[in-house]
Amino acid sequence: MSAYLWIKLLHILSATVLFGTGLGTAFFMLRAYLSNDDAAMAVTTRNVVLADWLFTTPAVVIQLVSGIWLTSELNISFSSLWFIVVVGLYGFVGLCWLPVVWIQIRIKNLIANGAARDSYRGLMRLWIVLGVPAFTAVLLLFYLMVSKHGAYG
Ligand code: HEM
Repeated sequence: MSAYLWIKLLHILSATVLFGTGLGTAFFMLRAYLSNDDAAMAVTTRNVVLADWLFTTPAVVIQLVSGIWLTSELNISFSSLWFIVVVGLYGFVGLCWLPVVWIQIRIKNLIANGAARDSYRGLMRLWIVLGVPAFTAVLLLFYLMVSKHGAYG
């Protein structure tokens, strides 16, 4: 297989980790929160924070670097509408994800210090408000990857 296809394979695998781990950890965190079980929330938040370091963070870097390389190999202009929208959406996802990472670490620490559920109810609401547009933007990115609308003028 050519170097191009190896990088594309890496890009698609990284996209799978980014979307799959993101969706999975969000599901378990929301379920733990809705269970009203503090012990479940304590274990879940610890593992959600760990998953972000182990899986999401490397995938975020690999996605962008491999994406820019693929773009240049395909001679898609960096001033094309497609590239501007893709990078814009990717930046937007990052702007939603970074506060979510902070919220998850904050809730993990609050619970570890014995804080009551009420102390992080507002943080969980913000976590949900940031999660919905972020996942919608990732779905839009998948669409743009396959359609390549606006990539070639
Ligand atoms: C969450 C973000 C992203 C996801 C989920 C994603 C996903 C994908 C997927 C599934 C493909 C394969 C599409 C196909 O075979 O038709 C792909 C291809 C591609 N991606 Fe991404 N990608 C993301 C971010 C990016 C970024 C940020 C860039 C550029 C900076 C980029 C550039 C490309 C290019 C140029 C291709 C075309 C490769 C080809 O068709 O041979 N991607 N991406």
